[in-house]
Amino acid sequence: MSSTTSHSDNITMAGGGLYSLATIGAKHVIDAATPMVTGAIDAMELDSMSHFTMSDMGCADGGTSLEMVRTAIARIRASSDVPINVVYADQTGNDYNALCSTIYGKTPFTTWLGEHDHAYPFMSGTSFYNQVVADGVLNLGFSATAMHWLSEKPCDISDHVQAVGATGAERDAFARQGAKDWESILLTRARELAPGGRLVLMNFGVDEQGRYLGNTGGINMFDRFNENWQQFLGDGVITEAEYKGMTLPQYYNSVEEFSAPFKDASSAVSQAGLKLEHVETRVVACPFAEDFKSHGDSAKFAREYIPTIRSWNQSIFAGALSSDRPQQERDELIENYYGTYEAQVRDKPHGHAMDYVHCYMVIQKA
Ligand SMILES: C[S@@+](CC[C@H](N)C(=O)[O-])C[C@H]1O[C@@H](n2cnc3c(N)ncnc32)[C@H](O)[C@@H]1O
Repeated sequence: MSSTTSHSDNITMAGGGLYSLATIGAKHVIDAATPMVTGAIDAMELDSMSHFTMSDMGCADGGTSLEMVRTAIARIRASSDVPINVVYADQTGNDYNALCSTIYGKTPFTTWLGEHDHAYPFMSGTSFYNQVVADGVLNLGFSATAMHWLSEKPCDISDHVQAVGATGAERDAFARQGAKDWESILLTRARELAPGGRLVLMNFGVDEQGRYLGNTGGINMFDRFNENWQQFLGDGVITEAEYKGMTLPQYYNSVEEFSAPFKDASSAVSQAGLKLEHVETRVVACPFAEDFKSHGDSAKFAREYIPTIRSWNQSIFAGALSSDRPQQERDELIENYYGTYEAQVRDKPHGHAMDYVHCYMVIQKA
């Protein structure tokens, strides 16, 4: 198995509020889960609470979840005056200025802040691999499209950039890391959750038909990332070490892998009191590919499609380029990579789509 290059410091979404503008599909994923959030709130005994705490783990700039948080607060307020804490958590390198701008109403998005009394936002730079709030205070833990980022990369993949294309021992290493991290996330939340509290999670995954992000029948998006970097490698534009460093520290669990800790009554997760109340997979169509079906302008499609991809993987790819290269050279190389990709989509648009494939789960702390 090959060696490992550094990884997690490079996981950053596009900053300056660009993340939410470029990722309308991620908002659609959250909107689809909002009934699960209101259902979870309805199942709780709000009257007995002195305060209600919810978290949004892996919130990025907070724009995609604004409507969900607004709906959650309104649902609580419909039957209770309990003070509400909304804890936005992400990694330390997240753009917290953009997050503050979103929540405090300094962007085109309409904030929930000020619509109800006693609803307070908090920002935390604590990873979901650590405890974000104190023991037993969390009533609703929410996370969308974030928990596929591993706590560490178990190895570099020798011939692909993502675990979906890995084989043999390299694939097994990612599967083991995925299982270990999923358990760690759940056990950490089990400590945070109040009795009767719920987690509502939308995690990227592999569905029952083997589909995953960008692989729903057309061109496999991850294969295309890889083919393009391999072309750069073959042309001598990047080195072998740089190529290997581009391995994304991600793993997409299958439904079976997500469900496994709950099926075993003796597992640490079951023993910690967590129960899987609901699990389902959903595909949310790529909004840019959908728009293309009606406007038919391939240049417009390519211009809009590539930024949504860049918003989440550019930091990893750019971070793998050697620091021996001057910054300007690295910037040009990255522009060249995404420019090549954009030209491919413009010239042959059919089959390109970043359809989202998620596993939606509601988990209860007994
Ligand atoms: C694709 S964005 C999703 C943002 C938002 N939740 C949404 O659905 O639109 C993934 C987010 O997860 C964050 N993230 C990755 N690893 C994390 C970790 N260990 N702890 C907290 N956040 C993490 C990234 O920084 C990024 O903001």
